[in-house]
Amino acid sequence: MTELVLPDPCLVVLVGAAGSGKSTFAARHFAPDETLSSDAYRAAIAGDPANQAANGAAFKALHRSLDRRLQAGALTVVDATNVTMPARRALVAIAGRAGLPSIAIVLDMAPAVVLARNAARADRVVPEAVVRRHLAELRTVVDRRTLEADGFASIVLLDDPAAIESTVVRRAYRANRD
Ligand code: CTP
Ligand code: MG
Repeated sequence: MTELVLPDPCLVVLVGAAGSGKSTFAARHFAPDETLSSDAYRAAIAGDPANQAANGAAFKALHRSLDRRLQAGALTVVDATNVTMPARRALVAIAGRAGLPSIAIVLDMAPAVVLARNAARADRVVPEAVVRRHLAELRTVVDRRTLEADGFASIVLLDDPAAIESTVVRRAYRANRD
C-alpha cells in the first residue's frame, strides 16, 4: 500500500498525459467539489470539453475559482495535464499567495498503457499525436527533474499501475498556516 499524506489545506496539482488516469485518480480520492478540471471549464465555456480554443477563457476561470477556494482555506485539486512549466507555475503562484503548499502528483504511466487507455475511451478519444506530445513533455519533465524548480513542497511520482491502485490518500490537518 502506498500512503500519501497531504497537508490540509493545500493545492494538489495532477500532472500527466491525456489518458494517464488523472480524472480517475481525482474521482477516487477527492470530492467532486474540490476538484477543478480543465475539461469541465472548457465544457462550461464552449459546450465541449475537448475544445482547445476555449483554453484561454477556461484556465482564466479555473485560476479564479482556485484562488477563491485556496484563499478560503479549502484543499483543491487541479485536474489538467499540467505538462508545461507555465501551467504548473501559475497554479503554484496562486497557492503561494494564499500561503498554502503545493503538492504535485505525477502519473508517469508507460506510453503503451496511456495510448491503449485513450484509444479505448468511451467519452472522448484525444488525438494520438496530442497524447504522444504530452508523453514526450512529461518524459522531459521527469527525467530532467524540472518539477523541482516549480516551487512544489513535495512531488509524488506514481509510475506503477499496481501501486496507484493501492494508493491511499490521507490528510494531515494544518492548524497553523505558513
Ligand atoms: N483508466 C483505467 N484504469 C485506470 C485509470 C484509468 O482503465 N487505473 C481508464 C479510464 O476509465 C478512462 C481512461 O483510462 O477510460 C483515461 O483515464 P482518465 O482518468 O479519464 O485520464 P485523464 O488523465 O483524466 O485524461 P484527460 O487528460 O484526457 O482528461
Ligand atoms: Mg481527465
